Amino acid sequence: MSSAPSKIIDFTKKNRLSIDAKQRLQYDLDTILTRLQKGEYETSGIVENTFDIPGKTEQFYAHLLTFYKIGRSWEAIFKFLQLSNQKLIVDLCPGSAPKVELGLYYAGYSGRVKLFDIDKSALKTLIKFVNLFKINFKLEPNKFDFFRSTTQTYSLVIGNHIFDDLILSYFCTKLKINPGEIYKKESVLFSVWTEILKNEKENKTEITNLFTDRFIAIVKKRGMLLLSNYPGYAEKMFNLNKEFNFTNAVFKEVIVNLTRSNYFKQIIIPKRILTFKDSYFTSKHIVALEKT
Ligand SMILES: C[S@@+](CC[C@H](N)C(=O)[O-])C[C@H]1O[C@@H](n2cnc3c(N)ncnc32)[C@H](O)[C@@H]1O
Repeated sequence: MSSAPSKIIDFTKKNRLSIDAKQRLQYDLDTILTRLQKGEYETSGIVENTFDIPGKTEQFYAHLLTFYKIGRSWEAIFKFLQLSNQKLIVDLCPGSAPKVELGLYYAGYSGRVKLFDIDKSALKTLIKFVNLFKINFKLEPNKFDFFRSTTQTYSLVIGNHIFDDLILSYFCTKLKINPGEIYKKESVLFSVWTEILKNEKENKTEITNLFTDRFIAIVKKRGMLLLSNYPGYAEKMFNLNKEFNFTNAVFKEVIVNLTRSNYFKQIIIPKRILTFKDSYFTSKHIVALEKT
């Protein structure tokens, strides 16, 4: 066999690789090594047919369709709550793929959108993506740590599917793990969840109280908080049922805390608003709260 590993080593010695290429090579080789060590390489190699244009297009379309459906769901909510005349909206932890932004685009929004995320590079990708559309609103990226207290308040704060990401991010920091790793390595994702669920009850109380305080702090009096939580890609793909139950319990307890304390009152979103064909989530996955 002509030795591909030694050719790769040779190539990397003679050629300067970009940072992205280096990271990708490292990741691919690590994945091959893990599969070999686990005796899984025979059954599942990692090499796919990279020139599979129809297959790649299908995959790409499937991702876009998901973003589209989530965007359409948000559009329906914005229209029902008549939010198009808001001047400034905060999108909490949007990540790199547009969802709330697509909803705003479909709803014809024309104000400002503050993008609050701890990862500036995710926001860069998001902005490139959103700028492919002819949007009428202004995007303002901000590096922001949800768990750090701030004094600034906003009249419309939105968080689409942020609970699991923030739970993982919080416990990663406690466990001294780089949160970025959970989106790159399945094994890190699983081991962080295992740690969280070891002390399920205490961890749930700790994170629920933290979320409650942060949401109270960030929304202006008479302002609105919109939060969604539904089983996401990782939860479905890896059957993370216990993990989703934990996240959903936190989501529900936070809402109970926010309304029981009379900080917020809930605005009911009728079922019919989210029962159209392309809706991604239903009214049980979204909550609208008004600060009193
Ligand atoms: C992967 S995205 C998914 C959530 C996104 N809203 C969606 O709908 O898919 C999660 C984002 O949360 C961000 N994040 C994680 N911890 C954070 C923190 N403590 N403060 C702010 N953003 C955080 C990550 O940087 C990431 O971009």
